[in-house]
Amino acid sequence: MKVLMVCLGNICRSPLAEGILKSKVDTAKVFVDSAGTAGYHIGNAPDPRSIKVAQNHNIDISSQVCRRFIVSDFDTFDLIYAMDKSNYGNIIGMARNKADAEKVKLLLNEIDATDQEVPDPYYDADDGFETVFQLIDKACTNIADKLESK
Ligand code: 4NP
Repeated sequence: MKVLMVCLGNICRSPLAEGILKSKVDTAKVFVDSAGTAGYHIGNAPDPRSIKVAQNHNIDISSQVCRRFIVSDFDTFDLIYAMDKSNYGNIIGMARNKADAEKVKLLLNEIDATDQEVPDPYYDADDGFETVFQLIDKACTNIADKLESK
């Protein structure tokens, strides 16, 4: 099983989602990666505030490297999770067919199917990152439970 976490910049939310899901699954069985729909930060490490909030929860995301979402990710991955509706729309816009589009889901619909979004914390203070961590953590617990029972 291969799971891709996607946000806009791939420096705040999706690196956290990658690190959190990796901490909850057997990474020999589940491949987890992340990407961004925008290209502003390619090659960079995650935002220091994301690194810090992850570290506070004993998760090390400091060695992740930002990359952009590419069309071939639809071939590589089984599940593609968007952090918000804008990311979702951008990814769907790149889908080549129905099978591609069906792989794309809004992350927080794994908590409850009410189309909630992980807020973009880029312009927030540090507490915004803790809120984001908690939302992603809940969703990833449910994803890990589902993958385990497969
Ligand atoms: P992310 O947050 O999508 O969670 O990585 C952002 C990071 C950078 C920018 C926007 C959002 N930016 O505009 O540079």
